[in-house]
Amino acid sequence: MDFSKQFPSSQQLHYLNHAAISPWPQVSADAVMRFAEENALQGGLAYDRWVETENRCRQRYARLINANTEDIALLKNTSEGLSFVANGLSWHSGDNIVLPDCEFPSNWLAWDALRSQGVSSRRVAIQSPAHIDNPEQALMDACDERTRLLAVSAIQYRDGFRLDLPVLGQFCRDHDILFSVDAIQQLGMLPLDVQACQIDFLSADAHKWLLGPEGQAVFYVAPEIRQQLQPSQYGWKQYEDPFNFDRDVWQPSASGKRYESGSPNTLGITAADAALGLLLDVGMDQVAERAMRNASLLRGALAESALINVKTAPLQRQQSAIVKIRPTRGNADQLYRTLLKQGIFCAQRGDGIRLSPHFYQQSERILQAAEMICNAVLDCR
Ligand SMILES: Cc1ncc(COP(=O)(O)O)c(C=O)c1O
Repeated sequence: MDFSKQFPSSQQLHYLNHAAISPWPQVSADAVMRFAEENALQGGLAYDRWVETENRCRQRYARLINANTEDIALLKNTSEGLSFVANGLSWHSGDNIVLPDCEFPSNWLAWDALRSQGVSSRRVAIQSPAHIDNPEQALMDACDERTRLLAVSAIQYRDGFRLDLPVLGQFCRDHDILFSVDAIQQLGMLPLDVQACQIDFLSADAHKWLLGPEGQAVFYVAPEIRQQLQPSQYGWKQYEDPFNFDRDVWQPSASGKRYESGSPNTLGITAADAALGLLLDVGMDQVAERAMRNASLLRGALAESALINVKTAPLQRQQSAIVKIRPTRGNADQLYRTLLKQGIFCAQRGDGIRLSPHFYQQSERILQAAEMICNAVLDCR
């Protein structure tokens, strides 16, 4: 399959940074250009069509994660979804939240903010030598009868380490613990089924593997939990019949829309909706297979260099399309800058370099990038 028309960036750059921000596919760029022209010519005259796009976007997110459309809220980012969970549950002093110790800041700052209510966070070193072979067990062992929430990223942002969500979800269900998943590093890279994983809350922005814009996110709340999670923002749009402004009684929306306070980010939704359409047309199984193949090609080619340490998770199921490497010569900062000058766009994370290819890239280009990275390390001192 040739996706070069959809991703003109792939002819100019070795784009290995989908775990940060992805290039938009051409369908998204076209949709946004049409939207911009329409706005310039007629403002909100076609508002009904905007609402159609918004509804379709919710439906596409729902299809992507095997949810019902009513369970979806369109928010502004992952952090907002996590904050809704932190601020919307009723906590009791002495409650605790269990989470990995290597989470992206948003996924511990939200829980730390509950300290003033007597809620503690228990961080588990899931990648320590003692736990790396069974990090799920380490998380489960850290839970007790006062654990209200288990909060994890499906895939860790620094190195792509992946957790077994169905195992964690089943444990949470069995022990009456709520299960929150930050899915920003998995949606659009690998399939994710909220029902099979028994997820209560899922938050993810569109700008990484979903190939969408920044500032447009999906928030899923399991229907049986919705009554427990009170909205912590207020506005006209989260109520039933929102356009009926002149009334005294306002009934909160029965659906996930109860978390959408005011006017939507229609521009962002236009871009995200088009990108979701593309991913669903290709099919998430196909997307996942190709993304994982590209990552594995990269891992294999880089591992051949004696000057590069490739950090590989011990079990196959813990790997994702994120490849973390460390140069044994020079340092990560120097390597990052050298690669950028040569048109290889990746990310520096900690003392290493994070490479994140996606499904649409051709294997020859991936191998070419790998060779350039090996040569760049050779040049470092
Ligand atoms: C795992 C993870 N969670 C959350 C975020 C931040 O998400 P947002 O900016 O959508 O709040 C990132 C961004 O890198 C991330 O990697």
